[in-house]
Amino acid sequence: MRILGIETSCDETAVSVVKATGDFPNATYTILGDALFSQVDIHREYGGVFPAVAKREHAKTLVTMLGHALSEAGLQKAHETTLSEAVQAALSDILSHESGLAEELITFLEKYARPNVDLIAVTSGPGLEPALWVGINFARALARVWDIPVVPVNHMEGHVLSSLFDGSTIPNLTFPSIALLISGGHTELALMHDWTTYELVGQTRDDAVGEAFDKVARMLGLPYPGGPEISRLAREAREANLPPFATLPRPMIDSGDADFSFSGLKTAVKYALKERTLPHDERCRIARDFEDAVVDVLYKKTLWAIEEYGAANLILGGGVSANDRIREVFTEKFATYQVSLNLYLPNKKLTTDNSIMIALTGHARSREALDETGLATLRADGNRSLTHDS
Ligand code: KG4
Ligand code: ZN
Repeated sequence: MRILGIETSCDETAVSVVKATGDFPNATYTILGDALFSQVDIHREYGGVFPAVAKREHAKTLVTMLGHALSEAGLQKAHETTLSEAVQAALSDILSHESGLAEELITFLEKYARPNVDLIAVTSGPGLEPALWVGINFARALARVWDIPVVPVNHMEGHVLSSLFDGSTIPNLTFPSIALLISGGHTELALMHDWTTYELVGQTRDDAVGEAFDKVARMLGLPYPGGPEISRLAREAREANLPPFATLPRPMIDSGDADFSFSGLKTAVKYALKERTLPHDERCRIARDFEDAVVDVLYKKTLWAIEEYGAANLILGGGVSANDRIREVFTEKFATYQVSLNLYLPNKKLTTDNSIMIALTGHARSREALDETGLATLRADGNRSLTHDS
């Protein structure tokens, strides 16, 4: 089965073609084509992601990404056709809110033949709703012309599979398993009862961990996205063995549950800075203090959940799982914790939002593919939860 994955939930516009041989989870996967455009340089100017800008950029870039993915997969075959007026009108209607996209797509579709693809997987949430809609409507338009079913994918489930994917297979997990999902919008501990049944056992009560990284970075005068910047400064402080700058709290670390809170930590950094512009060394020190506090809390909460639910596998996923310190500490501590605990970290290339993870999840959920009637009712769900999906 060939799956076309589409991801537009935040600031990455991604399209890929993944070939699955066999049934999930025992399939072998081949990435036939993968195209991704990161809007990060555009959003950096604004200091964060603006939904309206993200939406506009997705609309501008999707057809190009589709072309790249299909041509890399050897599935872009030139074949001049003329779409009937009825089809053109249907596409214009489906894409009426995505400026310029219908025209560009019609030109593309009149130039190339229907590719040999069996399923379209598109992110339907969580994420920024205006951004999600572009991907959904694009998928609906393709489904209309090519007559291919569409499966709406949960972005967070995508991060879980992204972490498990070794480049060609998904391991045979035993359940229950625990997933720690950390990104710009989420901080969640999810208990997996099986491949499609998730239970949210803990989450942040205020800021997401990525959001805290981004806000603290801004306080330190560092550009967006702040996570990698903080991480770079913190590494400098560690390598130079600089002393701590401030004693920062570990919010809720002993609360005896799996919930998180990061806003107090962010405020503690703000007070420590006293609105001064600090010299580089001091910024490195406080970046490390902040990162250490985050790692301590993430580790302790995750350990709590593993013990509470007797999990045999720990899956770390989401944009923040690119963080070297978190990866290091988790690897070190969980390796010595229990021989029988398997830790799955995403390949660095697949930590950020991508469409390969959406295609993989689409394969896992291929039974949930929608026909034309179902597709007409498909909505973007900015708050789509892992828990209510199955
Ligand atoms: O999953 P993701 O790409 O997008 C969302 O779905 O939110 O995560 C983006 C978040 C940003 O907050 C970014 O600062 C953070 O991941 N991030 C990091 C690192 N790389 C990205 N945070 C800490 N350390 C990193 N190395
Ligand atoms: Zn994400």
